[in-house]
Amino acid sequence: MKRIIIQFGGTGDLALKKLYPAYEHLMSEGFDFSIVALGRRFTDREQFLKEMLGDSVSAEFKKRLDYLYYDMSDEKAVCPLQTYLRDNIADEDEVELIYYLALQPSLYEEAINQILTVDTSLTCDCTLTKKIIVEKPFGFDIESAHRYNDILLQAFDDKEIYRVDHYLGKEFMQNLLILRFHNDIIRSIWDNRSIESIQIIFDETHGVDQRLGFYEKIGVVRDTIQNHIMQIITYLTMNEPATLSPDDIEVEKVKVLRSIEPISEFYTGRYESLGVNSGHVVDTPTYAALKLSVNTYYYAGVPIFIRTGKMQKEAVSMIYVKFRNKTKQVMHDENIEENGVIITIHPELTIDISMNLKEPDTSWKSKPVRFRFNQAETFGANTPEAYEQIVKKILVGDKSLFPSMREISEAWRIVSPMLLDDHHKEVYPVRTLPKFAQELAKNNDFIWFDQK
Ligand code: BG6
Repeated sequence: MKRIIIQFGGTGDLALKKLYPAYEHLMSEGFDFSIVALGRRFTDREQFLKEMLGDSVSAEFKKRLDYLYYDMSDEKAVCPLQTYLRDNIADEDEVELIYYLALQPSLYEEAINQILTVDTSLTCDCTLTKKIIVEKPFGFDIESAHRYNDILLQAFDDKEIYRVDHYLGKEFMQNLLILRFHNDIIRSIWDNRSIESIQIIFDETHGVDQRLGFYEKIGVVRDTIQNHIMQIITYLTMNEPATLSPDDIEVEKVKVLRSIEPISEFYTGRYESLGVNSGHVVDTPTYAALKLSVNTYYYAGVPIFIRTGKMQKEAVSMIYVKFRNKTKQVMHDENIEENGVIITIHPELTIDISMNLKEPDTSWKSKPVRFRFNQAETFGANTPEAYEQIVKKILVGDKSLFPSMREISEAWRIVSPMLLDDHHKEVYPVRTLPKFAQELAKNNDFIWFDQK
């Protein structure tokens, strides 16, 4: 079978940093496909290969990578793509075309319409299948997400549409389900009878200067909360699916999302650069802190506190599940600490269970100690990159790692109050935690978890 990936945004950051390395690696594992990158930055293939990729990829990979100058704002842009595809599939018996949109959401509508034009003009004496891949955020808000979807459905079946959230390709996400559903002892403590609260902390050290054009139109809510964070919450609180089929998983995830009210307790901020860019304030929220809860029988009453954003002092990605602590009352000892599960994604993937054990040479004094799983130490350092898993699933046609339209739509509903532009955005100096994150903790009487 001849399989071609048509890469919209072929000269963008995502393609360069994540997709091309994933494609190259999958080819070296025996997956058979070629790519045509579309972009405006270079006039021809030679220049694209030399200036964009240089020596970063193998000669083998370059042979399978083509380039077409493609200006989406030009009505005639589709013509060379139509010709290219027609020529490349002419003598084939079986063809699969994979349209991959790695663009900013404001360009989706145009791109989808262009794909429809290409699609309706393509005929061949072969079995022709197609898929369309759309990067997150899918849409700009709930209305646009539905609009894009309606346009997509004019030419594609829902099963041919893959809406990407690369977090679902991450090992730690899949491990959340295994941790929860393959361990009897965890099952029996994983609900509101034992869990007091959950924290999700995603602090990043980098800013958005490199991708300001993209980010200033998006902001932190659309960039990570509507998608990555919502998906993490579904994996943390969904019920066990009947089977691990995509449909059964979706049923449970949708239930979780439908049980979350639109977020009412939240704060956002944007950073003010120091140094060379001194005084520049990014014109969109780059940090947010919020509280929500999943109002199902098993999780109602467990607050989930989230903080995430850019330009922080340290890169930390972690989830802290804090258990109730009745023991300190029962044992009349205020110093007994709570138990917790600490899932650290960055700097390395570890899962700790903290328990209290006796401190040597004391009389009945306990100390919290950690029982640790370390992914690299146990399974080796070569865990596949999230994008590799995602692309592999696309190639084999398995939709288990892709959010459905219902999930996406519910997630937009939940974050909708945060998208309104009328609330205050605190300006925070880079490398500092915005004050509002502390305020959220103070108002809700908790302390942000700190590894140290
Ligand atoms: C992307 C966001 O989807 O996820 C980025 O656009 C963010 O802003 C990134 O930095 C985080 O992903 P990862 O895989 O580095 O945790």
